[in-house]
Amino acid sequence: MRKLTNRILIISSGFLILTIGISYFLYNLSETNYLGCATEIPQNFCGTVSPSLSENATEGKKIFNINCAACHKLDKKMTGPALRGINNKGEFPYENYVFDFITKEDSLNKINDKYTKILNEEYNYDFNHNFTMTKTEFEYLMDYVK
Ligand code: HEC
Repeated sequence: MRKLTNRILIISSGFLILTIGISYFLYNLSETNYLGCATEIPQNFCGTVSPSLSENATEGKKIFNINCAACHKLDKKMTGPALRGINNKGEFPYENYVFDFITKEDSLNKINDKYTKILNEEYNYDFNHNFTMTKTEFEYLMDYVK
C-alpha cells in the first residue's frame, strides 16, 4: 500500500513539474513571437511610414521614391548627385534655382545658365529635369531631403 502511494506521489509530482515546464516554454514562445504595436521589429508594423519623418516629409519621400530614387540617393552620389541638404547648399545662382532646375531644366539650358551647364558637364548624363510639380510638392520634397 505504501509503495503504491509513493508511486502515485512520484508520478503526480513529475506531472506537475512537466506542466510547469511546458507552461514556461509556451510563455517564452509567445513572448518572443508576439508583435504588438510597441515592438520595434519589424518597423512600419502599425501603418507608420517612418517614425522620424514629419507628415510633409513623408509626402516628400513618396514623391522622391516615385520620381527621383532611380537616379538619386540622399547621401551617396549615384547617376545624379546626393540630394541631402540640396536646398541649403547656398551656391546656386538665385533663390528659386532648385525648383526651376527640377521643373524646367530645359529653359535653364536654353538661357545658357552657367551653373546648369557646369553640372551637366560634370555628370555627362543625358537627362533633363522637367518635372511637373507644384510648389507645395516641392516643399514636401525639400522637407524630406533637408
Ligand atoms: C534619370 C535620372 C534622374 C532622375 C530620374 C532625376 N535626376 Fe536629378 N539629376 C540627375 C543627373 C544626371 C544630375 C546631374 C546634372 C544633370 O545632368 O542634369 C541631376 C541633378 C540634380 C540636381 C542638381 C544638384 C546640384 O548639385 O545642383 C537636383 C536638385 C536634382 N537632380 C533633383 C532631382 C529631383 C528632385 C528628382 C525627382 C523629382 C530628380 N532629380 C530626378 C539625374 C536624375
